[in-house]
Amino acid sequence: MKGVGVGEKVYAALRSVGAYTPQRCVSNKELETQIDTSDEWITRRTGIKTRYFATAEQKSSDLGIEAAKVALQRAKMLPSDIDLVIVGTLAPDFIAMPSTACIIASALGIHDRPAFDISAACSGFIYLLSVAKAYIESGMAKNILIVGAEKVSSVLNPQDRGTYILFGDGAGAAIISATQDKELSILNVHISADGQYQDYLMTPRSEINKKEIMQCMSMKGNEVFKIAVHKLADEVKHILEECNMGPKDIQYFVPHQANYRIIKAVGDLLNFDSSQIVLTVDKFGNTSAASIPMAINMLYENNQLKRGSRLLLDALGGGLTWGSAILHFDGE
Ligand code: COA
Repeated sequence: MKGVGVGEKVYAALRSVGAYTPQRCVSNKELETQIDTSDEWITRRTGIKTRYFATAEQKSSDLGIEAAKVALQRAKMLPSDIDLVIVGTLAPDFIAMPSTACIIASALGIHDRPAFDISAACSGFIYLLSVAKAYIESGMAKNILIVGAEKVSSVLNPQDRGTYILFGDGAGAAIISATQDKELSILNVHISADGQYQDYLMTPRSEINKKEIMQCMSMKGNEVFKIAVHKLADEVKHILEECNMGPKDIQYFVPHQANYRIIKAVGDLLNFDSSQIVLTVDKFGNTSAASIPMAINMLYENNQLKRGSRLLLDALGGGLTWGSAILHFDGE
């Protein structure tokens, strides 16, 4: 990896974003024909109206490659400019190896550079930001491609109405680059985890007919809901205090898009105005590590993101893992 000039104080900045949404849109009405649920129940309990599912042939890497191409093009960068590729996914192409990051890097023409995956489920994008920030501030990299690539449908049990209705597939990518301008940088990232809650949200392996191994998500929905509101509210309060900021100092609050009621509860507890809160959960459902970059991408494509726009992020996911970040957009 390339080094940065010795002795210069370097910060990490969000240079560009990109996203990819699979073509097939699945409405709540369509789910009504498959499982015992209703559009009314899903809308009222989650805020979700539609989600997108990848094809049988598409893997998480395929989604991630498309998102990464957009991020590279918007940053006006070539694959050879990238020093490191990191991918957050709960649905890697292969269980053990190769990593989804290796597959994405190679498809983009990024060779002879480090590439690895992070397993932090829905908190994946915040974990990616924290690693990218550390690599850049330590001078170990100048330009890092981070990707949340999630074919979540591949780990869903279509018979389980408690989880099947909540999730969707998608990918979001970002380029994180070195800058000397602190005002345009990633100011603070906080990540945490507690494995004592591992069985709240997991993908256990089970044997079917002593032949096939199935790996499907199981979730204690009520417990996750309660802990999410409590942990995320604490998390956001803490990171704002650390940065000596309040809700009014934030332009866009981009929470992980799991459930509208979780987002609203945290927003209300911390006195955010609804106009500050970015919502995509109605359209995409929960796309795990892709949800935050997909939401930032929506802001970008709606022309709402300007150089210097200040964002607050939060997420909680399987593990349990959670985290938050305060950062600026440093792109065009
Ligand atoms: N359609 C219709 N009814 C459903 C249903 C569905 N898809 N899923 C559950 N129900 C039923 C339950 O069986 C229960 O019926 P009962 O009262 O007759 O027993 C009733 O609805 C209430 O179930 P409950 O689990 O208490 O609902 P809830 O209000 O907690 O909503 C979740 C369920 C999953 C939407 C909610 O708990 C949640 O969003 N949790 C957090 C999940 C999450 O975000 N995970 C990812 C974190 S990254």
